[in-house]
Amino acid sequence: MPPTETEELKQKILEENRRVHAKEGSLYLNRHPEQTNRYQTRILKNTVRYIRNQIPEREAKVLDLGCGTGYLYLEFLKRGFDMTGVDLSEELIDVLKKNVPKEAKTRSRLEVADVLEFAENDSNTYDAIVLSALLHHLYDYDQAIEQFVQKLNPGGWFLVFFEPLKQDIDSPIRYQFHRWIAQIDEWYYKRAMNRLNIPIFEEDYHLADFQRQQGGIDPHRVVEVLKSCNMEITELKKYCARRHAFPAFLTNSILHTQNTFNLLARKPKLMNQVTR
Ligand SMILES: C[S@@+](CC[C@H](N)C(=O)[O-])C[C@H]1O[C@@H](n2cnc3c(N)ncnc32)[C@H](O)[C@@H]1O
Repeated sequence: MPPTETEELKQKILEENRRVHAKEGSLYLNRHPEQTNRYQTRILKNTVRYIRNQIPEREAKVLDLGCGTGYLYLEFLKRGFDMTGVDLSEELIDVLKKNVPKEAKTRSRLEVADVLEFAENDSNTYDAIVLSALLHHLYDYDQAIEQFVQKLNPGGWFLVFFEPLKQDIDSPIRYQFHRWIAQIDEWYYKRAMNRLNIPIFEEDYHLADFQRQQGGIDPHRVVEVLKSCNMEITELKKYCARRHAFPAFLTNSILHTQNTFNLLARKPKLMNQVTR
């Protein structure tokens, strides 16, 4: 039977993601200072520290979906977790492999695969499943969430980090300022990339950023999917990310406008599990 239009679209999204992320290669995080500036790094470190405090067992296992060059992965690895990372891009996994410190190699397992394919073939369970900036690359993120939540141990944590937010614009005036700050921030960013001779591929991202083309990820839909899987939502934080720390600080402290979110959920413990 010939593939349906939906099947073709799903394949095309995967191909585009492979193509575009192969181009990003080792400079992925250099091109994305919105993930590495001081403002965002503080949020990242606080989140990982919080999860570490909730899961004190040394040998606890964490799965990072769409791990890329190791933004979340290396931070969790540093905190002593047993890590598994999966990513569609062979090129990005190769970069990450080189960045895993020697002494942590025995706690690191990296696989090249589509997350849905990985979900079918992997029989392990995890104490935390984490992802950063992955859902907006998927054709059907509800399905991915549903499949992975089943792989959490009782009491396990699910982290959705740094996804583009589907926005409700409640105050057009504040959003006008939000856009002006964004334009200035982008101008400095492009100038810096130009000076460093780092090409940027924004124009390349159409189909690869499939959910962004639909307006972004609606955190309330993610909440509904997680709740339907019997997960407890422990935190939903919407905020504004910018290429540079200062405009991020300015927007979050004065305008209170948002363009991204982090969400943390927990699988209920078994009745006889010791309370921590
Ligand atoms: C925006 S990047 C984020 C990378 C990393 N998590 C980070 O925050 O820096 C998205 C990542 O998801 C991966 N990806 C996209 N679609 C995927 C899929 N279907 N299965 C596995 N990984 C996927 C890409 O290869 C890329 O590494």
